[in-house]
Amino acid sequence: MDKNVKIFPWNDAFNTGLTEIDEQHKRLVALLNELVNHLAHQFKSPTPDQVFEQLTQYIEYHFVAEETIWQHYFADDSANQDHRADHARFISDITKIKAELNNLSNTQVMENVLSYLTNWLAFHIVESDKLMAAIVLAMQCGSSFAEAKQHACSNEQLNDSIKALIKSVLGLHSEKEYIKIRIIRYLANCKEDGGMTTTGLQQLAKAAGVDQAEKIHVKKDLVQAIQQVTQETPCFRYNLSSHCSEEDCIWKDECKKMVAIWGYHLN
Ligand SMILES: [Fe+2]
Repeated sequence: MDKNVKIFPWNDAFNTGLTEIDEQHKRLVALLNELVNHLAHQFKSPTPDQVFEQLTQYIEYHFVAEETIWQHYFADDSANQDHRADHARFISDITKIKAELNNLSNTQVMENVLSYLTNWLAFHIVESDKLMAAIVLAMQCGSSFAEAKQHACSNEQLNDSIKALIKSVLGLHSEKEYIKIRIIRYLANCKEDGGMTTTGLQQLAKAAGVDQAEKIHVKKDLVQAIQQVTQETPCFRYNLSSHCSEEDCIWKDECKKMVAIWGYHLN
């Protein structure tokens, strides 16, 4: 399992067809994934609020850019007003989250925040931005506003199937990534607290979905059980004599440490 967490995988179904907006959405997703990594690894510098600030500043910049385009094509149409209101609500929610940044060391709080940000962004793009962009693109090809709106709305059925697809892809993907975040955070804490414990690993294994984790009492077996449920090769401390080539594995440090200890006892 590598050390990089990607809670929001970019998918071409998110493309609106308007290059400027698509590039900004990709940048937003990259910044969101950067924040996730930062929180998972609990990096001290830059601080989480600096990373969060960078993300919120970009969101504000993007909203202004988007609203300028919608204003040009939609003017006083209610879709434009609704879209602006959606943006404003999100900014207000982000301001509340900012005030709670100190609680992000609590894994559950962090997961709730990341899940809210990810889902809001994904569904806003698919449900709203894409529809607005389709109207803009049709108008750029010569349609009147009314024709463009009617045509874009008649494609709603297609949009529904994309929404269902994204829901399942994001759901399945983020479930795996949240487990990964818990593992990374546990291992980062172990570095400061003196290493992995059987109880700590049992709790982690249980959270990862290992069946009857409390009945496993050997650290190596617990880690291998976690590797198995996370669809990884259960290679942890598998062979003391062989050299591991997985440079980016999140278990590497603990694996090497235990190999060193057991290797010492075996000698
Ligand atoms: Fe938008």
